[in-house]
Amino acid sequence: MLGSLLLAGSRSALVRRAVSGFPVTRKVVDRFVAGEATADVVAATQRLIDAGLTVTIDHLGEETRDAAAAAGTAKAYVTLLEALQPYGMADRAEVSVKLSAVGQALGAEGDRIALEHARTICEAAKAAGTTVTLDMEDHTTVDSTLGILRDLRADFPSTGVALQSYLFRSEADCRDLAYEGSRVRLVKGAYREPASVAHQKKADVDRAYVRTLRILMGGRGYPMIATHDDRLIEITETLADRYGRSRGGYEYQMLYGIRTDKQEALARAGHTMRVYVPYGDDWYGYFMRRLAERPANIAFFLRSFTSR
Ligand code: FDA
Repeated sequence: MLGSLLLAGSRSALVRRAVSGFPVTRKVVDRFVAGEATADVVAATQRLIDAGLTVTIDHLGEETRDAAAAAGTAKAYVTLLEALQPYGMADRAEVSVKLSAVGQALGAEGDRIALEHARTICEAAKAAGTTVTLDMEDHTTVDSTLGILRDLRADFPSTGVALQSYLFRSEADCRDLAYEGSRVRLVKGAYREPASVAHQKKADVDRAYVRTLRILMGGRGYPMIATHDDRLIEITETLADRYGRSRGGYEYQMLYGIRTDKQEALARAGHTMRVYVPYGDDWYGYFMRRLAERPANIAFFLRSFTSR
């Protein structure tokens, strides 16, 4: 119930103004976001790599309705990828892109613009020696995102995509994408979706995660298991044994600031552990989805008002 309200709030301009206006909000946001500037995220990336982790960097922003802002986001990724090069971090740091931040939401021309900007980002990633994974947003964008993925993969075959276990369609999408060379990040899903397209109960979402996980682990692509859920990590290990996947044949991913100890423990155990690191000033939607995922985060947010 509270989670649904927060997800509704994540798309309300009024709530956005109210939450962003609290002076202490920034302090709480910093737990989940690695700063606003390119230099901030480069420094955070260096720290994580030094701790034995790998990284995927997200320039915050989504549902851009302005063509100049979409172009600005693409440019920010190019700047970031150029900034990573001198540090020799490219083999350990890729980028994650929300297509709605680079034009997908710009009406009839949206797909063409998003593809063009995504291509520019993929080219910069390739020049830096790394790659791109497309985030998945609400269910209305899935066909468009998978279409753009297909076009990108023709020239940049290492481009990956996130699929959400809560969507009924994802088992079929996982099967379609479980081929050699494909990179799929499996997540539970973070948007408020109608019962006509998505599982609503946590237990059903978790069960669907196991079914989609089995398809990916048994397939021929490279599964990226993006969850903080211990039970699903245990099941992944069982499936890795069953399908003969070595440590290099799949990886774990978690969000910046969430279960840091577990991230380090998995890395110490020899797994590739990739941290999703968001940066930038457009943190509102991302932050609200993190609050919605876990009531304890709201308590943390509220406590910060009294601990000033
Ligand atoms: P679940 O929510 O059941 O949490 C399991 C445990 O993890 C909790 O009990 C708690 O201990 C901890 N935990 C989870 N969330 C927490 C939080 N916010 N704060 C503190 N602790 C928390 N979604 C999407 O729709 N599209 C996408 O492209 C992506 N991309 C993405 C990339 C990566 C690398 C990750 C890890 C996640 C995403 N997501 C996403 C978000 C995803 O859909 C999902 O909402 C969150 O990962 C939370 O789900 P869990 O699988 O962690 O399980």
